[in-house]
Amino acid sequence: MCGIVGASSYRDVVDVIISGLKTLEYRGYDSAGIAIQNNSSIDIRKEAGKLSRLEKLLTRSPIAGISGIGHTRWATHGEPVTHNAHPHDSRTEIAVVHNGIIENYQPLKNMLIDKGYVFKSETDSETLAHLIHFYHQEMTFSEACHKAIRELDGAYAVAICSLSEPDKIIASRQGPPLVVGIGKNENFVASDTQALIEHTDQFHYLEEGDIVEITPNSCEIFNGQGEHIERPLKTVNMSADELSKAGYKHYMLKEIHEQPTAVANTLQDRLGDTGVSSEFITAETVELLQRVKQIHIVACGTSYHAGLVARYWLESIARIPTQVEIASEYRYRNPVITDDTLFITISQSGETADSLAALRFAKQAGYLSTLSVCNVENSTLDRESDICLLTRAGPEIGVASTKALTTQMTVMALLTLACAEIKQIDASLRKRLLKQLRTLPGLLNQALALNDKIEHIAQQIVIRDHALFLGRGQHYPIALEGALKLKEISYIHAEGYPAGELKHGPLALVDKEMPVIAVCPNDELLEKLKSNIEEVRARGGELFVFVDHKGDHGLSDAENHLIELEASGEFTSPIVFNVPLQLLAYHVAVLRGTDVDQPRNLAKSVTVE
Ligand code: F6R
Repeated sequence: MCGIVGASSYRDVVDVIISGLKTLEYRGYDSAGIAIQNNSSIDIRKEAGKLSRLEKLLTRSPIAGISGIGHTRWATHGEPVTHNAHPHDSRTEIAVVHNGIIENYQPLKNMLIDKGYVFKSETDSETLAHLIHFYHQEMTFSEACHKAIRELDGAYAVAICSLSEPDKIIASRQGPPLVVGIGKNENFVASDTQALIEHTDQFHYLEEGDIVEITPNSCEIFNGQGEHIERPLKTVNMSADELSKAGYKHYMLKEIHEQPTAVANTLQDRLGDTGVSSEFITAETVELLQRVKQIHIVACGTSYHAGLVARYWLESIARIPTQVEIASEYRYRNPVITDDTLFITISQSGETADSLAALRFAKQAGYLSTLSVCNVENSTLDRESDICLLTRAGPEIGVASTKALTTQMTVMALLTLACAEIKQIDASLRKRLLKQLRTLPGLLNQALALNDKIEHIAQQIVIRDHALFLGRGQHYPIALEGALKLKEISYIHAEGYPAGELKHGPLALVDKEMPVIAVCPNDELLEKLKSNIEEVRARGGELFVFVDHKGDHGLSDAENHLIELEASGEFTSPIVFNVPLQLLAYHVAVLRGTDVDQPRNLAKSVTVE
């Protein structure tokens, strides 16, 4: 979603803001802009399309100044055209950038039009610029911002500058994230730490309702009640390498290949000789898990799929009744919560609006406790959950989630193992599961070696308009994920189905134009899946079968496009089978020539409903 960068310094900040916005490109956007202050004016440049267009504009029409705000916009209100791009100004005296949705903008806009303000865009955000300008007639810039921000309903992260105080930036958040970077004789605000890591590793994380005022030498934070408050200063360790493509053509391909290392990092210090370590599950968490009678998992998109896989493990291995639900559905459903139910949220970013809203609901709803599985330390989800288990995948920049899912499933496997230990479930089963986790990085490496073969079969899929993904049991969510990956980056329509449902409807779609991709582990459901495969074949569907090479699966390459891999084991199998499906989606998208890392209409971090 939209990205914000603001800077107040003694040096020219145009490059600081533009390079910060570049690191936020991954969030998804369709226009970009910058406002720079000097003592006599606020100069604004903005363009529809990619940041490169804004950079060209800045070359043709340069600006310079010691403070300013920049923005990448993901359109909500109003088309992605230049006049809707941010910053929005009010009479060239106030400029505003905004991420989110101002729900009560219409009555505020009507009032401001009555007062003579002229709107130049269709956005809700422009309202804030005029509102601050209106109040600033009678009060200071700071007082006007505080008053205007307190009147907003909805979700927002905003940064504001005013000609009246050219070295000051005021920013606030309610919903979407905002961090404050503390430098030497310069201070910053941004949507995430990555945007500022070139300039500082010291950050304040703003809480809901906070307002911050920065100048080059000062940083003052006020809470939702307007009280002066200290927020902890945290050091963020992140190297520039982690944010580069490291020679890969796309971030997504890099992140797919990082999975063995990401999983090894996720497991590091968390496995002991006989089970999970106390670094992973503290004594306090053990006490909590002893009481758990039921689990609710809530998440969105790919993270929801991690929850679906985990349900199979938590129920079949740890014998804990588990429900999994999409966050945007859960939050409006008024669910029944029985005693001793643990609430789990899974999220890569830790900033997904629906997942956060579900967590906040859960905190009031009588759950035993709230636990999150998250990739971003200090994200809102991490800070607001009772317990957070970090996935340690490293920054994920491609919009399509890959290594985050793999590490989420790994953490959920560890959690399942911890629950099984606490319940003293079959020691030999636990030993086997522990061994599986140790082999996981190696198996992922082997799956990645299928890259060339998958690149080849991608040529058969790229010519199609639709695809069907089939799986059974814990591989059904992997089929869902395979379909999601293909549709989001290649724009080919794809559906994931439990193979047993084929005859209940989707079989009607199968003919020679329909590629059917089956996830086929060598487990107790193999024979059933093979019957489903035969049903497809009998209707002329073109089959692509990903099969565990162990044992006699009885499937032939002559009749199917057969891709064999080593992927047996309750924990390892769904995690490993996911990798070739990621590669398939990637290669199909490359052949189609789509924007793999920033697919159209999508944002990395969905910070509004
Ligand atoms: C798909 C994808 C999305 C995210 C979803 C949740 O590839 O990335 O479906 O999984 O938006 O995001 P997080 O995990 O950040 O809560």
